[in-house]
Amino acid sequence: MIIVTGATGTLNGATVDHLLKRIPPHQIGVSVRDPARARDLADRGVRVRRGNYDNPSALRHSFADAEQVLLVSSSDLSADVVAQHRRAIDAAVDAGAQRILYTSAHGTGFGTPYPPLAIHAATEQHLAASGVAWTALRNGFYGNPAQLLGAWQEADVIAMPADGPFSWIDRRDAAEAAAAILTADDPFDGPIDLTLPEPVTLADFATTASELSGRQIDRAIVDDETWVADEMASGAPEAVARFTLSMFQATRSGHFAHSDPTLSRLLGRKPRSITDQLKDLNLR
Ligand SMILES: NC(=O)c1ccc[n+]([C@@H]2O[C@H](COP(=O)([O-])OP(=O)(O)OC[C@H]3O[C@@H](n4cnc5c(N)ncnc54)[C@H](OP(=O)(O)O)[C@@H]3O)[C@@H](O)[C@H]2O)c1
Repeated sequence: MIIVTGATGTLNGATVDHLLKRIPPHQIGVSVRDPARARDLADRGVRVRRGNYDNPSALRHSFADAEQVLLVSSSDLSADVVAQHRRAIDAAVDAGAQRILYTSAHGTGFGTPYPPLAIHAATEQHLAASGVAWTALRNGFYGNPAQLLGAWQEADVIAMPADGPFSWIDRRDAAEAAAAILTADDPFDGPIDLTLPEPVTLADFATTASELSGRQIDRAIVDDETWVADEMASGAPEAVARFTLSMFQATRSGHFAHSDPTLSRLLGRKPRSITDQLKDLNLR
């Protein structure tokens, strides 16, 4: 059986949808914080059990019969997420899983220019010491392009801090790739980079947005401290603004410039490009 955590979330929910296209529902289980939110999966024949990274015994129960367990990286920013991930890994080992998979991030490591990557590095370290086969799905950046680009549609300019090359993938592709890895004949061991074939920059977004909208969309570099002050003036907490700024600072160090063809190979097609993703915004 394949057990998936975070199945009521966006990424791993989509992964379960893809698994259902590949294997029968009785071979899939989900471990979720609120089973009521997974009723649609239960209706489709998926085993639904309650599981929470803060409750080891519930996790072990929800992981029972698992050959593979796919762990989502926690979104609980108020918690010690590394401790949560360690508890989830230990519970999967105790439940007898033969492989543990984890939604990690591109560029993961200790002491990188992007501090949150240390969380994934510590989790991968625990996986490597678990004694069980493991796979880290090192996804490129993804999310709502509006959050990446700011309020560019109002002023026809992407006015953000200086950036550098990074991979901006479509979360749906990450989910499809995860399902392909979970059902592959040959296992994927250790860290797997899931990126675009070529990295992009915000200048590429401006070019693409210009082409799609038929308007000239410029890319303007905003000084780091000016940008943080502007964000705070718009109501963002300083910590949130500085967290986002650290992402731009990390991209311009070149830390995310590396690309890998594995995502294309797993999908059997090119991953959705930034053009594909901006088209979804129905630009006018
Ligand atoms: N690569 C990137 O650029 C990027 C971008 C955004 C996020 N991420 C990371 O990737 C993860 C998945 O992304 P997403 O888009 O699917 O986010 P999401 O929709 O917020 O899903 C996060 C999932 O984590 C679950 N979760 C949170 N705390 C938990 C706990 N204590 N025990 C068990 N499950 C817990 C949530 O459960 P509930 O459904 O019960 O809330 C939810 O299903 C995020 O959690 C975050 O760590 C990566």
